[in-house]
Parts: sequence; C-alpha cells; structure tokens
Amino acid sequence: MPDRPYLSARLRGFGTTIFAEMSALAAETGAINLGQGFPDVDGPRAVADAAIAAIRGGQNQYPPGPGILDLRRAIADHQRRFWGIQVDPEREILVTAGATEALTAALLALCEPDDEVLALEPTYDSYRAAASMAGARLVPVSLRPPGYVLDADSLRRAVTVRTRLVLLNSPHNPTGAVLSRRELEAIAEVCVERDLLVVTDEVYEHMVYEGEHIPISTLPGMAERTVTISSAGKTFSFTGWKIGWATGPAALVDAVRTAKQFLTYVSGAPFQPAIAVGLRLADTYFEELRSDLAHKRDVLCNGLESAGFEVYRPAGTYFVTAGIRRLTDEDGDTFCRHLPARCGVVAVPTSVFYEHPTDGRDAIRFTFCKRIEVLEDAAHRLKALA
Ligand SMILES: Cc1ncc(COP(=O)(O)O)c(C=O)c1O
Repeated sequence: MPDRPYLSARLRGFGTTIFAEMSALAAETGAINLGQGFPDVDGPRAVADAAIAAIRGGQNQYPPGPGILDLRRAIADHQRRFWGIQVDPEREILVTAGATEALTAALLALCEPDDEVLALEPTYDSYRAAASMAGARLVPVSLRPPGYVLDADSLRRAVTVRTRLVLLNSPHNPTGAVLSRRELEAIAEVCVERDLLVVTDEVYEHMVYEGEHIPISTLPGMAERTVTISSAGKTFSFTGWKIGWATGPAALVDAVRTAKQFLTYVSGAPFQPAIAVGLRLADTYFEELRSDLAHKRDVLCNGLESAGFEVYRPAGTYFVTAGIRRLTDEDGDTFCRHLPARCGVVAVPTSVFYEHPTDGRDAIRFTFCKRIEVLEDAAHRLKALA
C-alpha cells in the first residue's frame, strides 16, 4: 500500500510545501521567519479602505467571470503606464485567484497530456505541480550559480517535438535574477523559431534594483504567443487577498478563462475594486516600494556576508540566495532545519526548487520583505554562525 493511498499519481511526490513547514517551525520556535515571502506590514491604507468600503457597499456576490471591468481597466492602464503594453480590458484580461491560479489555469488550458513545459531551474514550486496536474512534464533549464545566467543553448537543446510552452519567471524566485534583454531575445528567438507559447510570471515586476524589468511580450514576435501573469499580492503587500491576473491575446486569455472558471469560477469580489485603486496609485508608491526593498536587500545581504554566507546579491524580487559552504558541510535542508535552534532564524533550502534535490544543496533562500528592525535583528542573530 503506498504511503498516501488516495493521492493521484499526478500529485505523487508533492507534499506540504516547504514554506508552510518552515513557517510552522518559525511559529513553534519563535524564530524570525525569513523563509516564506510575505511582508510583515500591510499594504497601502487607501487600498485597504477601498476593500472595506466595497464590503460595506455590498460588493460581496460573484463578480463577473473575467473580473470586474474597473479592475480590468486599471490593469490595462498599468500595463500601458509602466511597460507600454496595450491590452483590451474587454477581451485580453482575466482576473484570477492570485498568480498561482493564473499559472495553473494557463497550464491546464494550454497543454495536452505528455506535452513538455520548459521552465527555468531553480523553479518556483507551484510550476511543477501545475504542469503535473495538466498531465504535462516540466523540463528544467538551468540558471547556473553564482550569476544565475541563462544559457540560451541549453534552452534550445531542451526543445523537443513535445515542447508546448516556455514558462518564464523574471524577476526570478528564488534567485533574484532579472532576465536581461539579451537573455530575453535569445528565448524569444527559440520561441518564434519553434512556434512555442510563453507563459511569463512577472509578479515581482516592481521589485527590480539593478537592470530593468522587460516584459517578454514587448519583444518582436512575442505579444501574439505570450500570456503574462502578475499579482497584487507582491506589489501591494496583500498576499492573502489572492488577486492576480493574466493578460495577452484574446484567444489565449479565453483559453485560460475556460480553465479558471471551473477552478474557482470567480473570487475576491470586494478586493477587486480595492486593487483597482492600488494600480492607480501615483508613481511615487511604486518608487518607494522599490527603494525601501533595495535598502532592506542591502541590510540583509550585508548581514549574511558578515555571518560568512556567500551572497548572490539579487537584482530583483524580495529574496536572496546564499551559499552555505563556508559555514557547514551539511546540505541546505539539514542546515535550515537546525538554523532556528542555532541562531533563531528560519530560511528555506534552495534544493526544494530543483527537480533533483541534490542540486541546490549548497544554498538557502532568505526573504527581506520584513521590517528593517526585524532584518537587523536577524542579521545580528546570524552572526552567531560566523
Ligand atoms: C514567482 C512566484 N509566482 C507566483 C507566486 C504566487 O502569487 P500569488 O500569491 O498571487 O498566487 C509567488 C509567490 O511567492 C511567486 O514567488
């Protein structure tokens, strides 16, 4: 009898996510939780007030399937304002239950059984499970440390007759790498040549500290084959609201909507108008979010360096990957499990983002989306390791 007799073969090998496990460990031990990526302060007051007003104002029933029109218009304005992308709010935008649902719905909608999905590795954990639920197979394309640069030839070599799409993530979790124009052009070339679709996860689009965020859909030949996904969770520090969106050509968005409607149908009625308010905030909001996180990144990275970690200073996201070889012979998983007792800090092993857990065993991931005093305290505690 298998260990988990009721779990379908498609989900075999998937357990409770390490993030939940490590958050539970933090709660149990009272350690500072730099494992899971959620901020420890709420997002903008005006956005929270808009959600409260929407609840009081009676926006509590099923919203329209694609999302309320005002939010879709705000998403279209946001895409134009920041990235120069034109999308039609009527046909080219779908509001989802976070980026997670958009990603899963996209893979369910676009893949046939046994299709292959190329994804950058290390890989955000929901991608492999989503591919598996769609009956597809995730094929990793390595971003190699220390620079986490994409080798375009390895991407090209990974394409087979079964490849359906490339699942991108930039800015990239867990490495913090931001794909450069040159890397994106190389990906675009392969996609056009082999007629592949692209699903691109850009939830950290406003968290870039070096270089620039370039949506791949802005490259020649890409708009017509790309579904772009983002989320309010990261940009507005309301990760629990689960408002995300997918944008792209009407035919692709229609496919994603078809899958989405049978996953959740709709979600987050009163949060949708609130996120429309958020997306219309002045440029200063987005600039301050970025500069605040850039400072936090430096505080944590400096602390990690003083503690003896080898730090890959991220160009984007709110995560930093740190090599542990100067500190221990243990693998990252064991090291993370001992970390709360050793110094009262929780991190997650980078190995969980790899197909083969022996890869990535030399590094662990920390988040810096916490209050500055929390990061300073963590940096101080981590010194005990040096
Ligand atoms: C790369 C990436 N994509 C998607 C998500 C999930 O986004 P949401 O909470 O909007 O579902 C996360 C959250 O950590 C993430 O890091």
